[in-house]
Amino acid sequence: MRSVGVIGGSGFTEWPELDWIDECSVATPYGEPSSPLRIGRCKGCRIVFLARHGHGHALAPHAINYRANLWALKQAQVDWLIACATVGAISPAISPGSLCVPDQLIDYTWGRLSSYGEAGRVVHVDFTQPFDARLRQAIGLAAGSSTAIVEGGTYACTQGPRLETAAEIRRLAADGCAVVGMTAMPEAVLARELGVPYALLCLAVNAAAGLGESVESIDHGSLAARMQNGIAEVKALLLRHFAQASARAD
Ligand code: HPA
Repeated sequence: MRSVGVIGGSGFTEWPELDWIDECSVATPYGEPSSPLRIGRCKGCRIVFLARHGHGHALAPHAINYRANLWALKQAQVDWLIACATVGAISPAISPGSLCVPDQLIDYTWGRLSSYGEAGRVVHVDFTQPFDARLRQAIGLAAGSSTAIVEGGTYACTQGPRLETAAEIRRLAADGCAVVGMTAMPEAVLARELGVPYALLCLAVNAAAGLGESVESIDHGSLAARMQNGIAEVKALLLRHFAQASARAD
């Protein structure tokens, strides 16, 4: 049976529709993960779910213990990891409400603990392709023709927790970024250091600062509505992915 790790992001800190059979708090050498791990079975896969921001969304992106989170998921023996994250859309090809599976990233964060290496044991992992290509493909397959999904594009990881200025978004656009979020780094590189295939499933919930219908501000009301509808689509896609993954494993 394949073990699929799912990291739930904003709006996805709970998944009550799934049948959970166990919940375990994992101690790690790096401290406490954001939440206990929920273990369940679904469509022939073992599912390990972690709420990145904690249950009830208590942790801001810069305050998350990414090293503990990834360590705990590795200990739970996941075969691969799908990390869900909300983003702002920069590319005109990505409309708010749609999904995206980036193939590249640029890290604009600072001060986050982003390696398991220490003084005297430096790690230089290859990160040319930050997301696992086969897993990205599998997510695209699970989207099928019914779900609007953009495959590829560069994810900009900003520090947060504030949203960006319009000028910052113009700079990210000039850098070639398609979407902007706050959590994929150092998550992606820690997964790489641990040898766990990792891909990011993004839900665009707003046009990035200065790009939307209202160039003056981001409207939080429509953001919440898009989040609700979008998370339902993300969950449906994941269920199809679990079914396809166990069929492939047979
Ligand atoms: N910027 C950064 N992170 C985000 C955004 C955004 O506009 N929307 C959702 N997460």
